[in-house]
Amino acid sequence: MSDDQPALRSTQWFGSSDKISFVRRSGMKAQGLPHRMFDGRPVVGICNTWSELTPCNAHLRELAESVKRGVYEAGGLPLEFPVTSLGETVMRPTTMLFRNLVSMDVEESIRANPLDAVVLLGGCDKTTPALVMGASSVDLPTIVVSGGPTLTGRYHGKPLASGTAVYAMSDEVRAGRMTQEEFVRAESCMWRANGHCNTMGTASTMAGLMEVMGLALPGNAAIPAVDSRRKVLAHDSGARAVGLARENLRISDVLGRPAFENAIVALAALGGSTNAVVHLLAIAGRLEVDLTLADFDRLGSHVPLLVDLQPAGAGLMEDFFEAGGVPVLLHELRARLHTKAPSVAGGVLGVHIPAERPWDSDAIRGEREPVQTDAGIAVLTGNLAPDGAVIKPSAASPELLRHEGTAVVFTDSDDLRARIDDPDLDVDADSVLVLCNAGPLGYPGMPEIGNLPIPAKLLGQGVRDMVRISDARMSGTAFGTVVLHVAPESAAGGPLALVRTGDRIRLDVPARSLTLLVPDDELDRRRAAWRSTTAAPASGYARLHHQHVLQADRGADLDFLVGRRGSAVPKESH
Ligand code: FES
Ligand code: MG
Repeated sequence: MSDDQPALRSTQWFGSSDKISFVRRSGMKAQGLPHRMFDGRPVVGICNTWSELTPCNAHLRELAESVKRGVYEAGGLPLEFPVTSLGETVMRPTTMLFRNLVSMDVEESIRANPLDAVVLLGGCDKTTPALVMGASSVDLPTIVVSGGPTLTGRYHGKPLASGTAVYAMSDEVRAGRMTQEEFVRAESCMWRANGHCNTMGTASTMAGLMEVMGLALPGNAAIPAVDSRRKVLAHDSGARAVGLARENLRISDVLGRPAFENAIVALAALGGSTNAVVHLLAIAGRLEVDLTLADFDRLGSHVPLLVDLQPAGAGLMEDFFEAGGVPVLLHELRARLHTKAPSVAGGVLGVHIPAERPWDSDAIRGEREPVQTDAGIAVLTGNLAPDGAVIKPSAASPELLRHEGTAVVFTDSDDLRARIDDPDLDVDADSVLVLCNAGPLGYPGMPEIGNLPIPAKLLGQGVRDMVRISDARMSGTAFGTVVLHVAPESAAGGPLALVRTGDRIRLDVPARSLTLLVPDDELDRRRAAWRSTTAAPASGYARLHHQHVLQADRGADLDFLVGRRGSAVPKESH
């Protein structure tokens, strides 16, 4: 560092000759570190969401070793530390309930320790946003290394898409066209190697957006988890983190408004998860970037779908990798992007975009032959969603995007499970399925249950999609004409709570409207009679969440976590 640069934070821990620095260095030396490691070199924290309870991140201890080599190579000192992980496949009631909790763990762990830069190791859906939210509130130099997608699984010779294939196969089982034995056999084929979902679900979406936003090195999103090039990327990212510390390039320097606008464009072109909307709003809130739900529609909804991956398209992440991944996508999107946005790779985003497309592939299309035109997220408003709701038209049935039908209301997920397959359920293909009490406050935690199952009796008739509306999210691997994130949610007294079975609902995606066709005076009567059924938990984290969670249109963050609290070194501990 030159003399006019501020001293590194870590020198306030290790840089003096008093008894406190003695204790701090001595403790570190117990791990086998020589004295020269405390000569003022940048200390790089490796914030790891490794956990055996998060199978998608199970290889991140190993990947951290590659990051460490890169840090050492560039003259830094790497120190790896664990934070709470979020295993999408196992956690109840939903990982989303704990995303904000993990972000607090990340934020406080970084600020309280002698770190000059951080490498964030994540993969499974919520781990990436939780890491980036926490790191944003501290605002040190930061780089993301994603765990990478799993390889393409195959069953009966056909590619098996993480998540997406499960929904389709379980419907086949319920319709009597697949046996239970076949279903179980398919389990072992879906994840045949380390890595996160191989579809363009939330994990792949967030990994891709990190690269697009300049917070990860080129190639971050698509290299398979088990490919040796992922270790090279981790190594290079460790080395770069040392450079970021020396340059003092903070996360807020990288993630400005242009990075978010680029992310919205890329989200559309990727056919990415609706969950990214909630996560980007939450990250923007931490960085005090003014981003709204309306921005997603305005900036993203006329962008073509260029990446042909499931659930919106055909391929899987290995196909995206073979096609060149995010750098090739950015090449195709160049004219729509802020190419002067900074990148942790050095300089600006534009210098890392290939000038020529190295080879052609169906997995990443050009704008002249898109998978679909006008992809992205459509933001709906109307008397049923005054603060907005979202739908992903690329994953919906075109004929249902303009639809009027009769509501069949489920008061909560228990009611849904109890009645959806009841042969006496009064429902037909034109009905609109409505689920209440599945939002941030109501469930609690806004689970991925917004893609309500098609009633068994309609599946038997060949129905594969219906209009579904809720305050829940849905898995990024899911598909259907599904209206999500209705705000305000029903448990907060939003109009969704006022819908009755038999009411008519009109969905008009081209007009961006969602309308409950009930007269205002009747809605006023129902509103006056509405009583919350969501009890506040007596204690614990659940109570904190209940008291402070924001609605989906504000990213479902906790209100007191919004904003940057900075990286000032806290006062001495002894
Ligand atoms: Fe971890 Fe899909 S379950 S990424
Ligand atoms: Mg998911």
